[in-house]
Amino acid sequence: MSDPTARPVAASGTFTIGGDLTVHRLGYGAMQLTGPGIWGEPADRDEAIRVLRRAVELGVDFIDTADSYGPFVSEELIAEALHPYPEGLVIATKGGLTRPGPGQWLPVGRPEYLRQCVEMSLRRLRLERIDLYQLHRIDAKVPLDEQLGVLREMQSEGKIRHIGLSEVSVDEIRAAREHIEVASVQNLYNLADRKHQDVLEYCESEKIGFIPWFPLATGELAKPGGVLADAAARHDASPAQLALAWLLHRSPVMLPIPGTSKVAHLEDNLAAATISLSEDEIAELTALA
Ligand SMILES: NC(=O)c1ccc[n+]([C@@H]2O[C@H](COP(=O)([O-])OP(=O)(O)OC[C@H]3O[C@@H](n4cnc5c(N)ncnc54)[C@H](OP(=O)(O)O)[C@@H]3O)[C@@H](O)[C@H]2O)c1
Repeated sequence: MSDPTARPVAASGTFTIGGDLTVHRLGYGAMQLTGPGIWGEPADRDEAIRVLRRAVELGVDFIDTADSYGPFVSEELIAEALHPYPEGLVIATKGGLTRPGPGQWLPVGRPEYLRQCVEMSLRRLRLERIDLYQLHRIDAKVPLDEQLGVLREMQSEGKIRHIGLSEVSVDEIRAAREHIEVASVQNLYNLADRKHQDVLEYCESEKIGFIPWFPLATGELAKPGGVLADAAARHDASPAQLALAWLLHRSPVMLPIPGTSKVAHLEDNLAAATISLSEDEIAELTALA
């Protein structure tokens, strides 16, 4: 038998996005690879490159990014670290959020802008087609059919394989499905924040991939001494591993993308795939937060 610790991600099982794109369920989110406020270059660029390469070595074949991370820095680092890409590596990116400054995010869903977003992501990622393109936010100022229509057009042009949504309600997903096939939904979800439980359940019933962002509650759940500390000690695991194992056990459509700028944290997080939890243990964790 192969050593599961060599490529721990394999133990997370697989999910098939859009019916034809199979990835391991535990992925990596590349938002933390930029400067503070998700703005500019990282303090340690070499470490950022090492994180990306180590993720792939450990079996990650699903990396989430966005043009707005940096902006552009995260996509550029991914191409620099990993291009030419190993077969089967799925890079999911997003567009439609502009960055007026550090920590600021403003949706712009004009179709001509979204078209430029896709074209520029293709260029930065050095791809001919983006496997999963997510509309980062629906722009309330622009008709939905215009925002989704341009993505559908680019899908038929072969520039996008599957389309996903981000931070949406069940009603918004239903409305979007009038215009496109929704392959994935990326919403805030973690052990401590389950306000999108209804969206997760809808995605599960419709076989839509659910990508929980802030899976570690942006680090809160990973902290020593935090809400998971005692349970982690009993499991001989780290708090981050328990938070991620809980997500993986929560639903077969769950695709967690923990983010980190450090190889040591990456290795810690990816080992979560090998942790088994009983139904009782899941219930105990669920009750904690
Ligand atoms: N669709 C959206 O609107 C949206 C919004 C936010 C994020 N996202 C996506 O979701 C991904 C995950 O979100 P996120 O990165 O903001 O939050 P997260 O994964 O919940 O947590 C990341 C934070 O936790 C720390 N951390 C990670 N692993 C750790 C470990 N093992 N031990 C201790 N601390 C640890 C990281 O710091 P270090 O760097 O020091 O490890 C970082 O500050 C992003 O990368 C992005 O791809 C999407």
